[in-house]
Amino acid sequence: MEFLPTSFEEYIAQLVEENRHRRIYRFQYQGKHYWLKQPEQLRGIWKLLKPNAQIALQKEIQILKYFVSRQAPVPQLITYGEHFFVVEDAGRTAIAWQEDSRLSQQRKLQILLDCLHALIQLHQTGLVHGRPVLRDMTWQDGKVTFIDLEAYPTEKDLLRKKTKDVILFLYGLCRAKVISDEQIQCLIREYAELGDAQVWHEVLSTLRRYRFIYYILLPFKPIAKTDLIAIYRLFENMSFQLKEGK
Ligand SMILES: Nc1ncnc2c1ncn2[C@@H]1O[C@H](COP(=O)(O)OP(=O)(O)O)[C@@H](O)[C@H]1O
Ligand SMILES: [Mg+2]
Repeated sequence: MEFLPTSFEEYIAQLVEENRHRRIYRFQYQGKHYWLKQPEQLRGIWKLLKPNAQIALQKEIQILKYFVSRQAPVPQLITYGEHFFVVEDAGRTAIAWQEDSRLSQQRKLQILLDCLHALIQLHQTGLVHGRPVLRDMTWQDGKVTFIDLEAYPTEKDLLRKKTKDVILFLYGLCRAKVISDEQIQCLIREYAELGDAQVWHEVLSTLRRYRFIYYILLPFKPIAKTDLIAIYRLFENMSFQLKEGK
């Protein structure tokens, strides 16, 4: 077969054509890895309930561009079109590192601490992620990158949005079976010490407000599935901090 050199643009156009049904597709070009992202393919009733998959993709492109202009740690946006965008590979996700049995517990904890510090730093620059769970953060040689951005940056309600980020980050830790309670508590203490005091105050008061859910759900613990278990774990690991007066 004759070898035809293709330009990067041509290659991407071809990939878009060949992978129309794929939400996310990792590919290699001249030794480097990239990700092609396209709108979510929704079926049946979801098409009616979530009609804006393409709008969501366009919104994500805008957020990415804005984060880049603010020098926030997001993957480089290589190119984009109406139905797709391509970003640079930013390494393995934080959850993939946690699930890798070859890594020591100490290394894993360091990766989680790096993620927490990156979130604190992101907040310090006045930006929020929207849903900073471990599968939407990558780690490579000590550098954390935020992917799958949700929150369009506005100055409005920043405290509430940062609070939501921190709660979702902690909840994300609790969802991962491979992360121990000791590690979770270590990260909670780290945030209490280094994080934004006002945000932490809001995190505690929000969780206190919702603590009744935990007591209501407690009898169901033996049959709880992943999401519920994560809520139990969050409240259990926060029980010290949630005592009044802390
Ligand atoms: N730039 C990137 N670098 C490394 N991994 C990525 C990158 N973009 C996506 N991924 C991987 O693909 C997964 C899905 O991508 P994501 O943007 O989170 O899509 P979705 O909105 O469907 O969750 C991520 O959890 C991550 O594992
Ligand atoms: Mg995601």
